[in-house]
Amino acid sequence: MIQEFKKIESVNGEINLPGDKSISHRALIFSALANGTSVIKNLSNAIDVRSTLNCFEQLGIKYQSVANELKIFGIGYGNLKSPNNSLNAGNSGTTARLLTGILSVQNFDSQIIGDQSLSKRPMKRVIEPLQLMGGKFSSNDFKLPLKIFANSTPRSIVYELKIPSAQVKSAILLAGVHLDEETCVIENDVIRNHTELMLDLKIEERENQRLIYSSKKDYPKSAEYFIPSDISSASFLIVLALLTKNSTLVIRNVSLNKTRTGLLEHLIKMGAKIKYENINSSMQETYGDLIVESSHLKNIPIDKNQIPNLIDEIPALSIAGFFAEGYFEVRNAKELRVKESDRISSIVKNFKLLGVEIEEYEDGFAIIGKEILNLVLLESYDDHRIAMAFGILFSLLKDGGKINNFETVNISNPNFINQLESVSR
Ligand code: S3P
Repeated sequence: MIQEFKKIESVNGEINLPGDKSISHRALIFSALANGTSVIKNLSNAIDVRSTLNCFEQLGIKYQSVANELKIFGIGYGNLKSPNNSLNAGNSGTTARLLTGILSVQNFDSQIIGDQSLSKRPMKRVIEPLQLMGGKFSSNDFKLPLKIFANSTPRSIVYELKIPSAQVKSAILLAGVHLDEETCVIENDVIRNHTELMLDLKIEERENQRLIYSSKKDYPKSAEYFIPSDISSASFLIVLALLTKNSTLVIRNVSLNKTRTGLLEHLIKMGAKIKYENINSSMQETYGDLIVESSHLKNIPIDKNQIPNLIDEIPALSIAGFFAEGYFEVRNAKELRVKESDRISSIVKNFKLLGVEIEEYEDGFAIIGKEILNLVLLESYDDHRIAMAFGILFSLLKDGGKINNFETVNISNPNFINQLESVSR
């Protein structure tokens, strides 16, 4: 589907967004594993989150949708059912990798499959540590389809993360909650910490390192979750509000988890007027209202340590960077190459199509040009965040523009266009 964008003059009003995708996946997974009924409020309506729910349905979990809440009837320790068919993680890396952790310590065989994009993404990063835990796998050269064999002798490990990946950390810790002895994950970078916060895991802080422990005593318990609004979905509206004149946008109850606010912190350093109000928390996850006003932005280097905390927001940030004073550069972000698309290549190709001078590096890119020379149909590359980022760019141009295969936004935010229209003037 081709989506057309017209120029948006200003962004005003208040908006509530669906729940954060990462927190929603975890709330579903923990509720499914727990013994008893859990209730989830403001769950994300993303297709990715639906993939997690569908997989757990095949593993024997029942659920019920009541008004704005989802009730999950958790199955309890050791009661997951051996699935009759392959579990389809769709486009969702979080579903595939977290599920691999859980399934690698079960007493039945299973298989995870995914769509074309997910089938190209690396699974070695979870397979390797889970093999050390006794997990047995067969894969297509460390990619999906992934067969996971029954593990009769699971063992705990101490594992230092080789790449800054919250999905890898979570897969190991979730295998760990099935074992009597403590498993320990050592991380050297600050990466998203929803799993350890929501499960209230033991954490030891060392100089520049964190040690996170899980064992059977941390096995998920039934709970009531409120999922804060998705900061990654918010990022596109934030950038639009900053870059349009006479704009004041209030986004309610946005996740303000410290490992996720990299974009906000960087934008503030660039001169963005962003305020936080009404700070609250649920299951140790902090959230609050964001007040965003039109601002004059200046590009500054992105702190290397911040990259993992704004990695998903780089498509949105690059649009802010294109319109900001000075040139915009991303380095140290090789991980972008293995997201839903190769995001370095997708961003570079789209700017090139627009006639904007841009340089590509193995670990990033630099947008040098400031002018759009050709208004052409852009590709989403079947990547939801690329689609939304360039949708925002076109919303800032006098003549607007069009994006192909825009339906990919359903992966994280099916209501994107409605949200955009509801705050645009
Ligand atoms: C996620 C972790 C991040 C992020 C992804 C969601 C998660 O990936 O990019 O969108 O929910 O754990 P990494 O595993 O590479 O950190």
